Amino acid sequence: MIYAANFKTNHTRQSTREYLGKLQAKLMLERKPSDKVYIFPPLTALDDYESTNFKIGVQNAYPVENGAFTGEVGLEQLAEFNINTILIGHSERRDILKETQEDIAKKFAFFKEHNFEIIYCIGESLEIREQGLEAVMSHLVSQFEGIDTTYENFVVAYEPIWAIGTGRTASVEEITQTHNELKKVVDRPLLYGGSVKGANINEISAIENVDGVLVGGASLKTETFLELVLH
Ligand code: 13P
Repeated sequence: MIYAANFKTNHTRQSTREYLGKLQAKLMLERKPSDKVYIFPPLTALDDYESTNFKIGVQNAYPVENGAFTGEVGLEQLAEFNINTILIGHSERRDILKETQEDIAKKFAFFKEHNFEIIYCIGESLEIREQGLEAVMSHLVSQFEGIDTTYENFVVAYEPIWAIGTGRTASVEEITQTHNELKKVVDRPLLYGGSVKGANINEISAIENVDGVLVGGASLKTETFLELVLH
């Protein structure tokens, strides 16, 4: 299983260091060798962390080496921290930061060209979910527009927007159906995200085509994230 923690705009450099220290101590003793753990802290918390038990990635970056892009971070800045893992397409960036599919596809192509491991997020609104699986799939497929789905170093994260940070998880049936359909479209490891927590990790991780989870709220404390990783 893959366990990915997306801190979003939470944690400081100091609290991330404390978090990772605790995580490392536990994972060293108890991580299943086949599991993979990723942490996506805020950019300001990047540091010289090294661990064979988890990997640090970034939640976002700008698709340039360097240059005049006020407020953005490019490849040169990431290289200083040995970062080669990135989240692309998160619904918060699509909806709040207004990234278009075209922007996202450019980002994907750039980081693919630089051999990054990409966790590519897709997800539908409640309005689309209420129209049924066909509408959901047509929306999700549209989020692969411009994306090279044959790239060998990427993972897909299915995160229904209505399940993010709401405490409302998609049902086992909804996840099963959607992941089964997605596997027909893209043959990559498939994460589920949206209110994953200790109380539902067993049933979610038992779903056949769920290869891992992408976690927001429940990843913010080492204890609650470890409940997932060590379940
Ligand atoms: P929550 O786990 O807080 O619902 O967030 C999911 C998410 O958006 C992870 O990227």
